[in-house]
Formats: sequence, C-alpha cells, structure tokens
Amino acid sequence: MGSLGWLGRDVITVLDFTREDLEVLFTEALNMEKYAKSRLNILNGKVLALAFFEPSTRTRLSFETAMLRLGGSVIGFSGVEATSMAKGENLADTIRMLDAYADAIVIRHSIEGAAKFAAEIAASPVINAGDGSQNHPTQAMLDLYTIWREFGTIDGLSIGILGDLRYARVVNSLIQALSYYRVRLHLISPEPLKPRRELIEFMNSRGMVYDWTDDPYRVINDVDVLYVVRIQRERFPDPMEYERVRGTYKVDLKLIEKAKPQMVILHPLPRVDEIDFAVDNTHHAKYFKQASLGVPLRMALLKLVLGGES
Ligand code: NCD
Repeated sequence: MGSLGWLGRDVITVLDFTREDLEVLFTEALNMEKYAKSRLNILNGKVLALAFFEPSTRTRLSFETAMLRLGGSVIGFSGVEATSMAKGENLADTIRMLDAYADAIVIRHSIEGAAKFAAEIAASPVINAGDGSQNHPTQAMLDLYTIWREFGTIDGLSIGILGDLRYARVVNSLIQALSYYRVRLHLISPEPLKPRRELIEFMNSRGMVYDWTDDPYRVINDVDVLYVVRIQRERFPDPMEYERVRGTYKVDLKLIEKAKPQMVILHPLPRVDEIDFAVDNTHHAKYFKQASLGVPLRMALLKLVLGGES
C-alpha cells in the first residue's frame, strides 16, 4: 500500500519521498477537494503545532484550515515575541515542548536545516514549512499537484522557472520534485540570481534537461507552465546586491501575448511586482487557484502522516 510511505514520517525535503508517494498524495488531495469547504472528522482529538519563526500567510493558514477541516485542533505561534524564546529559551527546548503537546509539528525558520534539527529532537512527525533558502517541500508538492490538475500529467511538459533562482527555497524544492518526471526546464533569471552550484549539480546528477537564459522572450513560446518567484529580498547578505536586481523582471501582457494559448502561470505568492496586475484577469493566471489548492493538498498530507481513516 503506497500510503504506508507517509504514516508517521517527517517531511523535510521532497527527496525523502518517491514519485509513487507523491502520486498517493495527489490522489488523496483530489479526494480532499470535496471536503475543503466542509468537515471530515478523521483527525478528531489530534493536535497540530505551528511553529512559525518567519512570516507566512498561505502556508500557515492553509495548514491551520486543513487541520480544522479534518476535525483536529491547532496550537502555535507566529514570531518569537510571544514565546519564551524572547526570554532566551533555545530552539531545542521549544521543540521539545511542542513535541510533548502536539501530534505533529509544522516549522518555518530562517536557518537552513532548522526543520531537520527539529525532527531529530521531536518524536512526533515534523513538517518543514520552509528553512532559509533551502527547502519548502509542501509548496513543491502543491505546485506539482496544481500542474497535474491543470494538465492531467507532469511528464512531457516544458516548464519555465522565472525569478530569484538563487535564494528561493521554493525553486530548490520544485526542481527536486520535478526530477521525478520527464520535463524540460527553462531557467530564467537575471545573471546575479542564477541557480547556486549545488542546484546545478543536482540537476546534472539527475540527468535533468535544462537551459538558462536571462531573457524570458527567448523561451516564452515553448513553456506550458511559467512558474514565477519574487526576489527574496530578506535573504540577500548585502542590501546593495538587492538594489542591483530589484525590478529586473516582470511578467506582463506583452510577454504572455507570445505564449502558447494553454500556458499556465503559477506563483507561490506573495507577489511583489514581478507579475503585472493586468495578468490576473487572463486565463493564464492560475496562482490564486494554486493557493486555494493548498488546503486540500495539506489535508491529504496531514491525513497520510497522522493516519486518519476516511
Ligand atoms: C514562499 C516561501 O515562503 O518560501 N511562500 C510561500 O510559502 N507560499 C515563497 C516566497 O516567500 O517568495
């Protein structure tokens, strides 16, 4: 049974799971779409802890909504101001307490490796909701799920990824997830935001088919999916470096005029200025739909990890 691959597991990177595991998740998410606006009492009495050390809107609230729709409850915090960490408590002790109170822990932190560290301490499953520039596995699962819902397949597609390929953890996790599929990747970024060496080495080691350009007009007519990310301003070691690249790319009506009719634009959100508001009204814009699928996708994930029966 495929779903045994999820029960009690930590979710630290996409690579902890197989393509089959992802497919089990997607099938479950499709089932959960029926309940995303109602209630399915399969996690009654279970408690999910949300430990958000970095800002979040969609990830935190979709996990919270998912848990409540499944009949469970949520505890947690956003920012350390209201926790004992403001008194000097360390991360390990904080995680130990959440582990004692809850059945699973969702953590977002600016330090790369924070979720893995938490998973080593906690007996309960730990779900990585973003660690620095490294991983954001549940976002990548949502991204692939959205593509699969739009096209009925992931194999065979041409996928453009435009933006901050250097610091965006969503890009790292998305490329890891896409390595399970036969896709063509067009990486598009300003020169200073090219992918880091580790990511290039990863793509090479997996035999992925990719190219890079700084000009979206070169590849726009070939992509089925255009995945856009904002410049991750908070990750720049030097504010001057950010000033050099801000505003250097934008998806607008002029660009998408050149796209295939069925081309789909995705974005993990938040959007800053990299997609013109006029694009929202076109049939290409699927980023708000993508964000709303975060609830059924995370309902499926929580069900599989926490073992709810339906
Ligand atoms: C992303 C993140 O936090 O990495 N947001 C999200 O979870 N939807 C992307 C971003 O902040 O740009």
